[in-house]
Amino acid sequence: MVRCDMSTGRYITLEGAEGCGKSTHAARLAEVLGAVLTRETGGTAVGQRIRAILHDTAVTDLAHRAEALLAAADRAQHIHQVVGPALTAGRHVVSDRSVYSTLAYQGYGRELPLDEVRHINAWAIADRWPDLALLLDAAPEVLERRMKGRQLDRFEQEGDAFHRRVRDGFRAMAAADPQRWVVIDAGQAFEVVAAAIRAAVRERLDI
Ligand code: TMP
Repeated sequence: MVRCDMSTGRYITLEGAEGCGKSTHAARLAEVLGAVLTRETGGTAVGQRIRAILHDTAVTDLAHRAEALLAAADRAQHIHQVVGPALTAGRHVVSDRSVYSTLAYQGYGRELPLDEVRHINAWAIADRWPDLALLLDAAPEVLERRMKGRQLDRFEQEGDAFHRRVRDGFRAMAAADPQRWVVIDAGQAFEVVAAAIRAAVRERLDI
């Protein structure tokens, strides 16, 4: 079980590739826990403006480092304005993505130096890392099927190699820090995944 300050709420993040069902499961979990539901990027008004840049397919020349810094700026605002105050007030927080998405997408995916990405983000979040990270993991074929017909944003338009690195990155982080991470097979039926998420939260955080 992750050791944390019992006087504050718990910070739970759902991570995974596009199409893994994270947003729907985040909403379900937040409802069950009576938690604050939020997301990165775009969990604040400032963050929504940053997200618009990051997702815009017309933005074709964004430097990888600028992309990483925009994601970190979104996150700094989000922790300051939403996550931190909610936790301090004793509320649990369920976030659709977190700092781990930057490590996966900008670190592993864009192949920026991991230590540097981690360092910049530790500063952005004032070292407030999630208490529990749930990785909804699924094979690329499953995700591709789910994404069919959807209009793709700047990240979704990236090639297979990028998405493979992102998935491997998430799995590597989970394997390296098993106290904080739980990997759930997102290829299973919705209710099975929801039950696995609920069980993981109960077991790891006792809530
Ligand atoms: P989503 O919020 O609809 O899942 O889409 C977010 C996209 O942004 C997704 O492709 C992952 C990407 N992303 C990053 O590249 N870095 C980040 O730090 C975050 C939070 C998201």
